[in-house]
Amino acid sequence: MSESYDAIVLGAGAAGLMCAARAGQRGKRVLVLEKAEKPGKKILISGGGRCNFTNIGAGPANYLSGNPHFAKSALARYTSRDFLELVESYGIAWHEKTLGQLFCDGSSKQIVEMLLEECAKGEVEVRCNAEVSAVEHEDGRFAVMASGQAVTADSLVIATGGPSIPKMGATGFAYDLARQFGLKVVEPRPALVPLTLGGEEVLFREISGVSAPVVATAGKARFPEAALFTHRGLSGPSILQVSSYWKPGEEVAIDFLPDRSGDWLLDAKRENPRATMRSTLREALPDRLADILAEKLGVETEFGNASDKALRAAQERLKRWTFLPNGTEGFAKAEVTVGGIATGELSSKTMEAKKVPGLYAIGEAVDVTGWLGGYNFQWAWASGVAAGEAL
Ligand code: FDA
Repeated sequence: MSESYDAIVLGAGAAGLMCAARAGQRGKRVLVLEKAEKPGKKILISGGGRCNFTNIGAGPANYLSGNPHFAKSALARYTSRDFLELVESYGIAWHEKTLGQLFCDGSSKQIVEMLLEECAKGEVEVRCNAEVSAVEHEDGRFAVMASGQAVTADSLVIATGGPSIPKMGATGFAYDLARQFGLKVVEPRPALVPLTLGGEEVLFREISGVSAPVVATAGKARFPEAALFTHRGLSGPSILQVSSYWKPGEEVAIDFLPDRSGDWLLDAKRENPRATMRSTLREALPDRLADILAEKLGVETEFGNASDKALRAAQERLKRWTFLPNGTEGFAKAEVTVGGIATGELSSKTMEAKKVPGLYAIGEAVDVTGWLGGYNFQWAWASGVAAGEAL
């Protein structure tokens, strides 16, 4: 005889633990199956070990999804304030780093311990080293095989995340399972990921390690934050942010001097005709970046000898310097996945599959992807609560 539960949650990550705790505290008999040796491994490494657990400004506009309205209901019913209240009720000290991003003062471990304590309050059983290999659905019940053991339940929650960082065991298991139940999957692609440069742009690799506050743009997405040059191309928060919107073949534009506008190079020429592009750019940018940009702009004379036309062209190029990335560093380096289980298949209120009563999908497995800065965990908490309260 297999063991029987009200609900089985697949994956003890952020979304799965939150969902299980909620359902357990409502009196449901819940089992969480986790293939790793311990729960919450991505939480543990997140935010450089301090877990950027939410963003105080999190709202639907901070997410990418096939349906931009899908996340509204869950995010409105469980907000960043709600999660912060939970964090504070456990006496976990926190701080805002920048742009509404909230981090633990201590360690990400505190967040995992808090979630496990919440699960314990709901008498949830969290079973690790239990890799789910097969799921069957018969007479309205789900039968799950995990590491040789069979368990059954009325409800099944897919919370196994996306394929980002396969080295940590991440896979597309959620998508396989969704397809098995006839649910559509939006083609997954790496997001919050460094972009790679080739061709002539490899020259920028020479300044690997240099960063500067810029405004990066891909299509309509625009992010004012730091960009970092790497030995493979471009990274840093502004680039990671636009990478989620970028598609192969598209340009990424960088405004290297967002604070300068108008004819500022012509003003510089009037003020100091002996100034050069290199000396002028070095006043505003790191030396190595200033030098490579000056070289590429090709204004080699002192400003007094340069034409206004040439200086205007340089100004424009610095405002919108276009790169044509030849790819990304892929799932191996992607913090999250864009795409996933199609939102059209799920109820936005409960995360339950419309075609398969009792089947739920939450967290990164779903086609809802947040910006960098605590938004992805907020989606994991909110979608976890939505399902945990419904199943
Ligand atoms: P998550 O991936 O957390 O959990 C899925 C679980 O399912 C895993 O434990 C996995 O082992 C398990 N599993 C998979 N297949 C299974 C199977 N077949 N059987 C059983 N179990 C299985 N976000 C943010 O908001 N702030 C931050 O600071 C960071 N930082 C960060 C750093 C790094 C390096 C990465 C890679 C990612 C982040 N993120 C982040 C993103 C964040 O980690 C991510 O959005 C959430 O962890 C998603 O939560 P889920 O619960 O959906 O999946």
